[in-house]
Amino acid sequence: MNCVVITGSPHRAGTTALLADEFVRGASEAGHEVFRFDAAFEKIAPCLGCNRCRSGRCVHEDAMDALNPRLLAAETVVFVTPLYYFGMSAQIKRVIDRFYANNEALRENPRRGILMAACHDAEDWAMEGLVAHYRAILRYLNWTDGGVVLAKACGTRGDVENLEYPAQAYRLGRKLAP
Ligand SMILES: Cc1cc2nc3c(=O)[nH]c(=O)nc-3n(C[C@H](O)[C@H](O)[C@H](O)COP(=O)(O)O)c2cc1C
Repeated sequence: MNCVVITGSPHRAGTTALLADEFVRGASEAGHEVFRFDAAFEKIAPCLGCNRCRSGRCVHEDAMDALNPRLLAAETVVFVTPLYYFGMSAQIKRVIDRFYANNEALRENPRRGILMAACHDAEDWAMEGLVAHYRAILRYLNWTDGGVVLAKACGTRGDVENLEYPAQAYRLGRKLAP
């Protein structure tokens, strides 16, 4: 199965990078084809809302040109983000906004989304806004939820390494249904 993992942290070896690493390890071991896109290290322009994509192609020529064919071929799309001000990071949001150019195609085929996130706070409501946003995106796109890993009280890599979240991420990848 084709799987795209989009990460949104500027920390190459940070908290959420470990969750992504473990998911990719599990999914690869299970024989899935994984394409990882580390958005913070790619050139991605923000959507201009010009609607030129409605009568042709997006005006931007950037790393989305490499991601889009993978996205359109994917059965599973994994969103991996640090919690930034109770939502996803700007780095990953830029990518999701650019889905706009392919709304119809992305809504056509049944796909599965997965959310993996980390944050410093431990409160049970810390990620409510992020999860509500994720669920709204899935609902709009007609995608199903393949699972979430919410690593609370994980402000640093050292925190998450000592908790069960990396194992959860690995298991999600390993058990990804064909
Ligand atoms: C700009 C910014 C905003 C943040 N906002 C929140 C927040 O709203 N709630 C929270 O618990 N942690 C917040 N954090 C902490 C990060 O979510 C946390 O450190 C996370 O583990 C970073 O993951 P990374 O190493 O993968 O980037 C914020 C960090 C930054 C830099």
